[in-house]
Order: sequence, then C-alpha cells, then structure tokens
Amino acid sequence: MPERDVFAPVPGDIVRGFERGAPPLTGAPVDGVLDDFAARVEPWPFGNGHPRFYGWVNPPPHPLGVFAELLAAAMNPSVAGGNHAAVHVERQVVRWFAELAGLPAGSGGLLVSGGSAATLTGFAAARHRAAHRSGIDVRRDGVQGGPRFVLYQGGEGHGSALKAAELLGIGSANTRIIPADTQHRMRVDLLRDAIDADVRAGCVPVAVLGSAGTVNTGAVDDLEAIADVCAERGVWLHVDAAYGGPAVLLLDDLAAVRKALARADSITLDPHKWLYAPVDAGLVLFRDATGAREAFSLVPPYLRTDDDQDGVGGPAWFSEYGFEQTRPFRALKVWMLLKHLGVAGYRSLIEHDLAVADALAAAVDAAPDLELLARGLSVVCFRGRPRSRQEEDLDVLNRRVLTALQHSGRAFLSGTVVNGAFALRACVVNPRSTIEDAEAVIAAVRAQLTAA
Ligand SMILES: Cc1ncc(COP(=O)(O)O)c(C=O)c1O
Repeated sequence: MPERDVFAPVPGDIVRGFERGAPPLTGAPVDGVLDDFAARVEPWPFGNGHPRFYGWVNPPPHPLGVFAELLAAAMNPSVAGGNHAAVHVERQVVRWFAELAGLPAGSGGLLVSGGSAATLTGFAAARHRAAHRSGIDVRRDGVQGGPRFVLYQGGEGHGSALKAAELLGIGSANTRIIPADTQHRMRVDLLRDAIDADVRAGCVPVAVLGSAGTVNTGAVDDLEAIADVCAERGVWLHVDAAYGGPAVLLLDDLAAVRKALARADSITLDPHKWLYAPVDAGLVLFRDATGAREAFSLVPPYLRTDDDQDGVGGPAWFSEYGFEQTRPFRALKVWMLLKHLGVAGYRSLIEHDLAVADALAAAVDAAPDLELLARGLSVVCFRGRPRSRQEEDLDVLNRRVLTALQHSGRAFLSGTVVNGAFALRACVVNPRSTIEDAEAVIAAVRAQLTAA
C-alpha cells in the first residue's frame, strides 16, 4: 500500500462501464469474475489502508479481522438468537465491553451496523422510558398528539443523532443544540437551563447526547457534569463514544472520563473505528438491558425465544433488544481481535496513533505557513495561513489545498469547519502509520499551499 497513491478517483470510463452494464443473463467462470474485480474494483479503494490516509474516522482493518469476516461469512448464521456459538460469542463480547465501561450487573447490549444504528437504538430505548413515565405507550401510539419530546446534544454532536431524532418522530428541530465552550465541549450550564426551560414549557426531555470524542475536533465533553444534570433531572444520558470510546476505556489519563462514562444509560462504541475491526461493527451498550427489551421486544409466533439457556431457543434473543431480525455474525472479528491483542495490545496501538497525531500537530506548529486550530484525541485540525494571504481569503485557499491534496495521491485529509474557519482535518487511527508518514503528510500539504 505505501507504494501506491493514497487515493485516486475512479476513472470516468470505468464509472461509465458500471453505469451501463446490463444484468448478467448468463453466468461467467469464477476466474473471469475475479479478473474483473482485479481490473475494475481493487485498484480504486477508499484509501484507508494507506498509512498517509487520515480522513474521517476510517482505520484499515486488522488482518485477523479480515480473516474472521471470511470465517463468519462461511458459517453464515443469523444471530437474531438461538443456542448456537455465534450467539454466545456476541454475548461474551458485549459483556467484555460492558465490564470495561464499568456498567453494573443487569447491563447488556448488542452489535449493530455502526455508530448511527447504535445511537438510534439507544435513543429508542430512551424515548420509550421517557414516554412511559409520561403515561404514553409510544410503541402503540407513536409520538402522535402527545407532549413535545426533546433531545439535547452539543454543537459538535454527530449528525447521526439528528437523523435518529428524525427517525424516531422527535424531529431535528426538537433537538436542542447546546453551544460549546472554547474547547468545543458542551456548555453544561446551558444544557441545564435548556432542560429546565423545556420542562417548564411542558416538553418531555428524552435524552442528552454527550460526546466522548467528537468527530470534528476529538473533543470530550465533561461527562461527569452532564451525568449530574441528567441524574438530577431524571433524563437519559447517551454517550456517543463511537470514535473515542476505546481511548476512554483503555488509557490511564482518561480514567476520570471512564468513571463518568460508567454513569451513562446507553453508550455508542464502534469496533469498526478505533478498534480496527473491518466494517461493519458498531456496539450499543445499555445500563439496564430490561428497559431496552421493553422498547424493542416483539415476538411473533413463528419465532422461538423461550429464554431457555440450554435448549434450542437459548438465552433472550438479540432481536428483542434492537431493530434487526436477521443479524450477521459481527461478533467474531471483535472477539478474535480482543483475544489476540488483549487490552494491553489495544492500549499500545492507540498510544501509537496518539503519538503520530502528536508528531503531526508538532509539524504544524513548526511550519510558519500553518496554523493549528484544534487538537483532541487523535484529531488534528489546522489550516494553511501564509503571511501573504488575508484572513478573508483563507477558506477558499484551504478548500483548494484540500482538493489538490486529495487528488495528488500523496496524502488524504478530510475537511471541516472549526470556529467558523475552514480547516484541514487529520484523524490518525492507523497503527501502521508512522511519524515519518505524518511529517510527509505535512510536507505534502505545504507543497500544495505553495502551489495554490
Ligand atoms: C463521534 C461519531 N459518532 C457517530 C458516528 C457514526 O458512526 P457510523 O458512521 O458508524 O454510523 C461517527 C462516524 O464517524 C462518529 O465519529
């Protein structure tokens, strides 16, 4: 991979070939199909296997995870439930993570497709509890005609939480976006005021989404203070630890955050992000698994869920705790990786990524034409700021630099906005990326800046 371009868009003639192709009416030999894969698919990857790809939150997969996917696909169970090994592997994975997160006995959870599905699942359980306390059967009546349900998240909360609000009939306009402090963390005083104002107005607060590592700047909210507000007001706390969760669970200097995380009612944590599992693998954890079951359980007569640990039905079915019925064997890759690397192995891989991010931030600081805009966990946001350019030209300049960089094949960053300014954003989640790679990425950015 390091010898190849980081990324190149799929050439137009290949794209047109995909757009024009008719359904194959007769089959082709496997060799021919594989040749076509080798010619038209494999050469044009997303880019995240490359050590100089720092876009979004997309690590390369650990090779053992790739192998586990093959094994899981070959077994091809439905992990809706039952008394087959995949169910017990997933139960063990969930228990391991609940334990690492410090959740009490009675907690539970399940693997889902990613962070978006995890937060939707957590919010659904929160909505069920809030509605129940208001005397509403939300599963039967939906949110029609009742009081106004509201959600809360910080200005840097992930967009998937807004989508969840829309899907749950709460509506994105009923998600209160709580402004951030100077470190991009949710202002807890404003959260408290917003909840109190909503309650006075007759609204029903459903949940607060706290972030343990925002996608934008890697900011970690003051979860302890948020948990206090939620506890005082009886509001569900969902922590989005999709990206930052592994660092919070494993690193000593985040022990205080870990302690606060253990107070959450539900948690999103994605093994397909900073645990290097191949896509897809998201995880939602519940402090009280029974509440989640009440929100989701729907057992038609053709399904058997007899909670008979030793019989055919096995333990309570996963499909009673979420919205998927047929479910893939996602747990195998997560289980194998945790067994292979162990907590200590994961800790050192994450520490490596943080060291590379430190080197990247140091290279930004040392460059006279670059400006550091934000740093949190392994995210580094910065921009080109040559002395010759005016502030009002910088957004256009940096957008141009980013596009040119992405096309150059030398490095890949994504873009974002920090405090109103367009920023180049790097997120290091690749143990095979080195400090030399980080320095090469900064050199590639500066080359584009000079050329722009
Ligand atoms: C903090 C955070 N939350 C949620 C998500 C959504 O996760 P997914 O893309 O797996 O649905 C992301 C994705 O990057 C994220 O970074």
